[in-house]
Amino acid sequence: MTSKRPADSDKQRTLPAEADGGTWLPITEIGHPLLHRRCADVTEFGGGELAQLIKDMFFTMHVAGGVGLAANQVGVDLRLFVYDCPDDTGTRHIGHVLNPELVVTGEERIDRREGCLSVPGAASELSRPAGATVSGQDWQGRPVTVRGTGLFARCLQHESDHVGGVLYVDRIPAVAERDRVLRQMHDHRATVYAEREARARSLAR
Ligand code: NI
Repeated sequence: MTSKRPADSDKQRTLPAEADGGTWLPITEIGHPLLHRRCADVTEFGGGELAQLIKDMFFTMHVAGGVGLAANQVGVDLRLFVYDCPDDTGTRHIGHVLNPELVVTGEERIDRREGCLSVPGAASELSRPAGATVSGQDWQGRPVTVRGTGLFARCLQHESDHVGGVLYVDRIPAVAERDRVLRQMHDHRATVYAEREARARSLAR
């Protein structure tokens, strides 16, 4: 997920330790089949390949300036996402969840601008529940539960949607607005890809 508030997805934000040893992976774009169907459950835990994938996903998310990234966005068919996202108190949440199960909390809904690294250069207002809790496992198979408010609640919903094959664009009720988002993407995607490549080069170690 991306946020249009500069402070939320500041490209100069420090690279977290979780990205150490990670490399840049190309991000799949809306229309790619993996983004439009439910991903496979993770059934093998603790392996080096999984650990490396998570590092690569953290690195890739940072290169692209996102606050969340799902495995199918880097072409991997697994129910897994990573996040590095502030809530509305400014607390930075960093982590990953495998096999996420989402529960939205409270009756309140919030309208906010939202974007996606797989819909490069576009954003739209979207109404979502104000709170969210995700339960799942960490890479070693240990149970984890993550609760979010503010932008982080939105991020947990957006990334849980991803591993279920749903994009935020699918949740925009008005067809005209969906079409506008896709036009916006087509107008800006080349610029976004050039920025990502430049930043991947500058961060590569
Ligand atoms: Ni997304």
